[in-house]
This record gives sequence, structure tokens and C-alpha cells, in this order.
Amino acid sequence: MQNNGIKLAPSILAADFARLAEQVAEAERSGADRIHVDVMDGHFVPNIAIGAPIVQSLRRVTRLPLEPHLMISDPDCFLDEFAEAGSTSFLVHWEGNNNLHRTVQRIKALGKSAGVAINPATPAAVLEEILPDLDQVLVMTVNPGFGHQHFLQSTLPKIRRVAQMIEQMKPDCELGVDGGIDEATAPMVGGAGANVLVAGTRQHGTSANKERTQLCRVRQIATGGRRSGQRACDRSRFSDRPGKETSETTCSVVDGSCGGRRPNYR
Ligand code: DX5
Ligand code: ZN
Repeated sequence: MQNNGIKLAPSILAADFARLAEQVAEAERSGADRIHVDVMDGHFVPNIAIGAPIVQSLRRVTRLPLEPHLMISDPDCFLDEFAEAGSTSFLVHWEGNNNLHRTVQRIKALGKSAGVAINPATPAAVLEEILPDLDQVLVMTVNPGFGHQHFLQSTLPKIRRVAQMIEQMKPDCELGVDGGIDEATAPMVGGAGANVLVAGTRQHGTSANKERTQLCRVRQIATGGRRSGQRACDRSRFSDRPGKETSETTCSVVDGSCGGRRPNYR
């Protein structure tokens, strides 16, 4: 399927785990380019989700690349296990890793692609030394740990800065964004220079048809946010004004008993 330069990475965090294989197959039929696997340890982020056995099971039912997003402390301890399970690439965080270069080299030694994620409060500048070694930078557009959160508008200038750094230092490095990506925010991040969109909530609908429509639509409007041939950002064309947002401030899935640890749910 033509992707117009924008790649789609549905996150299975928003899937119905009782029918995970079916939902991944739906995503594949709908034009997904890879599957984003959110891994959480309850320590690095205040949530727990998904281990290597899930990757192993999914490896048997899809041809799509499987990309674990390791939101865990000490990711080095789990790289081998996830690689053996069939992961295609890894996303590891800059935050909390005192030996990021070692982690990235270890991923490459395993024959996998390496991406580094940065949280909303982390500046783009931390990437300067590691960028030449990377296949992807992932700019978190929400605080990691949960799906279904509001896109943080304040991350847009950083996406532009990272796009410029990539252009100058490693033009074949992908620029991903993760969190709150939907029909309203896709053109903003596409216009800012992102070319990999991770989306959970907006890409796992309640029916195959709904999901297919959303996947195609998200790619289409993200591409529409770019001018022909545009690679990096263009401040004059895109503003940081908020997109369409719901007025809800509590999660529709949980009951609010999270003790305030889950801001910005919609
Ligand atoms: C957040 C995760 C995201 C999440 C995105 O910690 O890293 O991948 O699944 O979900 P949505 O699209 O619902 O924001
Ligand atoms: Zn993620």
C-alpha cells in the first residue's frame, strides 16, 4: 500500500487483548507499516503492559515488523529476550539510561534497528551525540505510560527541531511521534516533520471497517500536512494552536481511582 512517506505504527496497547491476533490482522489489512508494542514495567512508567511472549505469539501471525517500545528500567536486561521473540527493532528511552550508547550498540549487535525516545520534558539537544547511530527518534507527544491521553501541543516545536537535526546529521533516520495522534493532530506532526505516526486509540476501532477507515484517513491527512517534497519543519505554515480536543478530563476506561497519576485522559 502506498504510504506517501508517512508510516503508520498502530499500538496494540489500545487493542482488545482477547482478540489480539485478529486486531493485528485487521491493522495489516488496513495498511499498517509496523506494529508498535508498548512494554511497561510499573517502574519506569506507572503502568504494566506486555512482555516478550506477546511478541513471540504475534510473530507467528503477522508479517509486519514488530517494534517494542521499552518503557522500562534497565532495558539492556530484556533486549535478548525480545530479540529472540521476533522483534524487528527497538525503541528505548533516553531518560534514566546512563549508558544509552551501550544500549544502542547492543541493539545493533543483535541485528535490530535502534530508536531512541524522548519524553515531553526532555530537550531535543540530548540527541546530538547519539543521533548518528540511530535509525529512528521517537518524540513522545504525551507522557509515557498510558494510551488515550491528550496530545501535548508543546511538543510541536521540538518535533521541528529534531527534524532539522535529522536533516543535518542523519537524513535517513526516521522521526516518529507517539501519543494522542488522531485526525486533528496528524497534520500538525506531519507538517512538523514526523514520518512515523504511532497511534493506539485512533487505530483500533470497534470494527474492522472503522479501523481501516481511520488508518487510511490518518495517513492521508498527515501527508496533507506536508508540502510536496517537504522533509523538515515549516513554521510559517503550521501553528501550535490546539487541535480538536474533547472536554473530558477523566479516562473513559478507568474509574478515576488512579490517584491523579493519569492526567490528560480524554
Ligand atoms: C504511551 C504509549 C503509546 C500509546 C499511544 O505511553 O507509548 O504508544 O499506546 O496511544 P494513544 O494513541 O491512545 O495516545
Ligand atoms: Zn509507545
